[in-house]
Parts: sequence; structure tokens; C-alpha cells
Amino acid sequence: MITEKDVLSALSRVPGPDGRTPLPQSGAIAGLTTVGGKVYLSIAIDPAKSMAMEPMRRTAETVVKGLPGVSGVSVTLTSERPASASAAPAPGPKAQAAARQTAIPGVKRIIAVASGKGGVGKSTTAANLALGLAALGWRVGVLDADIYGPSMPRLFGLKGKPESDGKIMRPMEAYGIKVMSIGFLVDEDTAMIWRGPMVQSALTQMMRDVSWGELDCLVADMPPGTGDAQLTMAQTVPLAGAVIVSTPQDLALIDARRAVAMFKKVNIPILGVLENMSYFLCPHCGGRSDVFAHGGARHEAERLGVAFLGEVPLHMSIRENSDAGRPVAAVEPDGAHAAIYKSIARSVMLSLEDGAPRAFPKIVIE
Ligand SMILES: Nc1ncnc2c1ncn2[C@@H]1O[C@H](COP(=O)(O)OP(=O)(O)O)[C@@H](O)[C@H]1O
Ligand SMILES: [Mg+2]
Repeated sequence: MITEKDVLSALSRVPGPDGRTPLPQSGAIAGLTTVGGKVYLSIAIDPAKSMAMEPMRRTAETVVKGLPGVSGVSVTLTSERPASASAAPAPGPKAQAAARQTAIPGVKRIIAVASGKGGVGKSTTAANLALGLAALGWRVGVLDADIYGPSMPRLFGLKGKPESDGKIMRPMEAYGIKVMSIGFLVDEDTAMIWRGPMVQSALTQMMRDVSWGELDCLVADMPPGTGDAQLTMAQTVPLAGAVIVSTPQDLALIDARRAVAMFKKVNIPILGVLENMSYFLCPHCGGRSDVFAHGGARHEAERLGVAFLGEVPLHMSIRENSDAGRPVAAVEPDGAHAAIYKSIARSVMLSLEDGAPRAFPKIVIE
């Protein structure tokens, strides 16, 4: 039996309205239902561009039709536009004032961990960076802003639902870190088909309707990519700066460059770039292999004029502990990996300079 999840994973091969961001991440999926073997999909587009969007519609239809167990497909374009339009006008003074109120009382600063694409270890970095900051004495929370693919419940080994008095939710807590994730509230498949406005309101709720208490830093794990949806999120969360995660391969570096450009566009300071899976550390002999020409991210950071935060090796224990809900920086606090994350945390603190929260980003049209 075909499921919505199957459809979404097939659609990840189809670029969305911007021609780049895969449909499931583009925020343009306005509806998806499967009934028996029939699939009904609607994609939100700018009505002025409906002709240009027709090839995308047809590609989506062909891809879904090709899935085993599908007996019929209807893909429609709708003008019901999610609020992820990048062409939003620059906010006026009023909008900016409203935006500033979005800052969370008691939370000194929010930083984003972002990457140009998924699978580079962004969530792993966010969790361990949060632990590194905590090890240096900060009170830290993690906001899982990756609405479409929340990882924090798994990474921190957290199950169940947060307590709530009907209005305010208590964040969950593990290893001394306060954690809030959409993964506590809905199952992954549901979140996957949310539309832009729903995503924004979920994010706002996870920031504002949660009793974060006093925090020196809230680390936001952003969704991968640099499309409209990510830009909207970067603007929904009032950010003091962004940490960009890359792997050493050229392609990942190009994506990292895009991520840097995206944050620069909305005037969010880049706190630095870090290279994950930089080199391979053999768990048996301790030997080191540079699987990819390592050091690419360092050069890229230099080229872009942003700080280089450090290198994290590709190591079995990082993956095994992550998948077991035991972040390596927490369960091996005196180990080599924890030391690396702590040093990255120190560099991030340094990049934050004064540590004062920044004003809400403005869109600059160049
Ligand atoms: N330095 C590392 N060494 C070994 N495995 C890693 C490392 N960083 C991430 N991983 C593993 O790679 C996979 C993807 O990482 P994840 O943090 O979920 O990436 P993203 O959030 O960018 O999609 C996970 O299985 C994770 O455990
Ligand atoms: Mg992730």
C-alpha cells in the first residue's frame, strides 16, 4: 500500500517551484492524500507562473505514477500560496517592531546551525555544540527548527510529550539541555506535509509558548537547504548568528557557500563554518584517513571571510551514540570528541563578540 511518506520520499527527486529545493522541503506542498492506490497532490504556486510550473507538475505526476502500488495520480497546481514567498516586501518600521517582540523573554540569544543540504551532520553538530556551550558554563536550550525532519527527540533520547498547562509547554530536558521539537508533538509524516503558514506558526509557538526560563543561548537546528522555506525560517527566528556545517566535498562546499549567502542577505552574522566528517578516525587502530581532501571548509571560510570553527572527524562513536540518544559530548565528556565540540563552542562564543542579541534581520534588496 502506498503511503504519503513513500510519495514524499519519491518527490524529493523533484525540484519545487524555485527549480532547486526539492518539493517536500519547498513548503509548496499544499495537500497530499492517498486513498487506496490513488494519490492526490496539490502544489501551491504563484498563479502568475502557472504556465511555467506545468513541467514541474508533470514531472511530479510521472514520478508518483512510477511508484509501485500507485493506481492513479492527480497532481494539481493551486494558488493557495504558503507564506514562504521570498519576494516579501522589506518590512516597514511597524513590521520590524513586531519582529523585535518575537525575541524570547529570558533568552539572551538564539543562534542557528545550518547547512546547504541535509545529511552533513547539522543536527549532530547542533546537539553537541549545545553541550559544548553548556560545558563552558552557559545555560543552553535546543530549538529543533527542522520542522520537516526533526532529529532532536532521537539525538537526546527523549520520548513522550512535553507537559503543558494548556497554554505554555515545558521544554523536555536531557543532559542539562532544554529541548523543544515538533517531533514531541506530531509524528514526522504529519509535519512533512505542513504548508508555509503552518510551519511559521509552529515555529513561533515553539519559541514563544514554551517556558524556556533563563538561557544564555538557544541553539536552533535549521532545516537543510537555502530555499524560500529556509529563508522564511531564518527570518521567523530572531537570530544572533549562524553556524554553517559542511563536509569537505566540493559539492557540499558549494551548498555551504549558498547558506552563507542566504544569511548574509538577511543581515544575520555568520559565526563561522565547521567541517564535519573532516577525516576518518578508525575505531580499531586509531589511524586517520583523509577520505576526502580534507580542509576544504577551512579554505572556503577564508575565501568567504568568515571564521573557521574547527574540524570534526568521521567516527563510529559519534554516529552510534547519536543514534542511541546519547550525544557524544554528553556521554564521553572527557573524550577527544567532546574536546573538539568544546573548542568549537569557544570559537562560537568568540564570534558572538559582545554576546548581545542582534536586531531582527532586515531584507536588503541589492
Ligand atoms: N562526525 C560524524 N561522525 C560519524 N557520523 C556522523 C558524524 N556527523 C554526523 N554523523 C551521522 O550522519 C548522519 C546524518 O547526520 P545528521 O546530524 O542527522 O545530519 P543532518 O542534520 O545534516 O541531516 C547521522 O546518522 C549521524 O549520526
Ligand atoms: Mg537534521
